[in-house]
Amino acid sequence: MEPKHNAPAARRTGGLSRRQLLAGVPGLALLPVVPVGRLAAGEPRAAAAAQDLPDWVRRARAEVPAATASPYFQTGGIGPSPTPVIEHLADRLTFQNRSPAATRVAEVMGRVEPDLRAQLGRVFGAGEDEVALTHSTSEGISIVAWSLDWRTGDEVVISNTEHPANVIPWYVLRDRLGIVIREIDLSPGTDLVGEVERQLSEKTRMVSLSHVSRNNGRTLRTGDSARLAELLRARGVRYHLDGAQGPGCVPTDFAALGCDCYSTCGHKWLLGPKGTGALFVRRALLDEVQLSWAGAHSHETMDYEGNYTLLPSAARYEFGTRALADFFGFGQAVRWMEDIGLGRILGRIEDLVDHGIETIRETPELSLASPEDPADRSGILVVRLPDGCDPMALYRDLGREEGILASPVRGERDFRLSVHFFNTREEISSALDAIVSRCA
Ligand SMILES: Cc1ncc(COP(=O)(O)O)c(C=O)c1O
Repeated sequence: MEPKHNAPAARRTGGLSRRQLLAGVPGLALLPVVPVGRLAAGEPRAAAAAQDLPDWVRRARAEVPAATASPYFQTGGIGPSPTPVIEHLADRLTFQNRSPAATRVAEVMGRVEPDLRAQLGRVFGAGEDEVALTHSTSEGISIVAWSLDWRTGDEVVISNTEHPANVIPWYVLRDRLGIVIREIDLSPGTDLVGEVERQLSEKTRMVSLSHVSRNNGRTLRTGDSARLAELLRARGVRYHLDGAQGPGCVPTDFAALGCDCYSTCGHKWLLGPKGTGALFVRRALLDEVQLSWAGAHSHETMDYEGNYTLLPSAARYEFGTRALADFFGFGQAVRWMEDIGLGRILGRIEDLVDHGIETIRETPELSLASPEDPADRSGILVVRLPDGCDPMALYRDLGREEGILASPVRGERDFRLSVHFFNTREEISSALDAIVSRCA
C-alpha cells in the first residue's frame, strides 16, 4: 500500500537534495535541476513510496523518463512518452532515411497508416474505415467545423468549458460566414441533454463538445452522450466530440458514444509522439462530412480531365506527405498501453483521483472544482485555490522551484493536476501540500 496523505510529514526538512538524487540518474543531466526546496524533503519518502508501488506500475514508470524526473501532472497538456515509443520512432526514422524512395523501405513505411487506423479503430470502438490519421485534435476539429455548407444565421452549440481548439474555428466561421455560436453550461452536475435541448433551434446544425473537459475534468457519460446523439440525429444536427482528453484517460468507445465525429490526439493520455492524432467519422456520414482540404491520397481515382473519386473510407480526410515515423510511434504507444492493460491503467487513474479527492476534502484551504460523482470524473483533478492565490504564479513557482508540473485552467482560482497511472499517491499528496504552502 502507498502511504496516505500526511501533510505535516511532507513539510519536514532534511534528506537528500534533489540535485543529489538526480546526479546518479543517466540522462537527467539534460534537465534543468530544480533548486533544493521543499520537494527535497519529500524525495526519500517518494523513493520509499515507489518501492510500495504495484510491480506493473513500478516497471512502467521506469520506462517513462519524465514520470520519474519530476512529479508529472501535465499529461492533459502534453503527455510524456515511454522510452520504447521514443526508440521505435527514432528507429523507423533512421530506417526510412536510409533510402526513403527504395521500394522495400517505402513498402514497410507504407504499412503504418492502415495498421494504425485498424489498431485505433479496434481499441476505441470504430471501424478501420472510420479512422483518419491527423496531426492533432485541432486538425480533426477543423475538418469537422468546415465540413458543412454553413449559411448565415446557422447555429453551432458548444459549451462554457471548451479548449480554444473548439472555440476558435467557430469564431472564424462566425466572422467569415455569419454563423451563430450558442453555449451550454457543462459545469460539474448540469444535465447534458437538457442543456443542449434548451439551445436547439431550427437553425442548429452542429453540436461540438468536449468528451472530457480540460478545465473542470468533467467526462460526458457514455449513456448521456448516446441519448444526445439519438436526439440530434432525429433533428438532423451533426454531433462532434472533442476527445483530446479522452482516450487513455477515460473509457472511450466511439460507437457507444454515438457521436458522428470524434477528434483526438496521440500526444496526451496515450503518451504518443507530439503531432499525432486521429479523427473518427461514422461510416454512414462519410459523404456528408464534406472535405474542405484535399490533395494527393484523398482520392481513389482521378484523371486530368476533371474527374475524381474519393477514397471510400475516412482516409479521404488525409492528404499529402506525412510523418510516418511518428505514426509508428503512435502505434507503439497504444501497444505499450495495451500491453499494460487499458483497464488496469484506467482503474489506477480512478484510484489515484479518489485519493486526491479524499485529500482535498481533508484540506480546509482547498476545495474540489472537478466532479465529485465517480461517473463524471476523469484523470483531470481540479483544485479550487484559496482566495487571492494566483494560479499562474503558482504554476510558475511550482514548476521552477519544486519541479512539480501542473497547470492553471480557465477558472480564475482553479488549478489542474492531470493524474495518469504513473503518478503516485505520494506525489499527489506532496503536490497538494505544496499548493497549500505556496498559497498560504
Ligand atoms: C479539450 C482539448 N481540445 C483540444 C486540445 C488541442 O489539442 P491538440 O494540441 O491535439 O490540437 C486540447 C489540448 O490541450 C484540449 O485539452
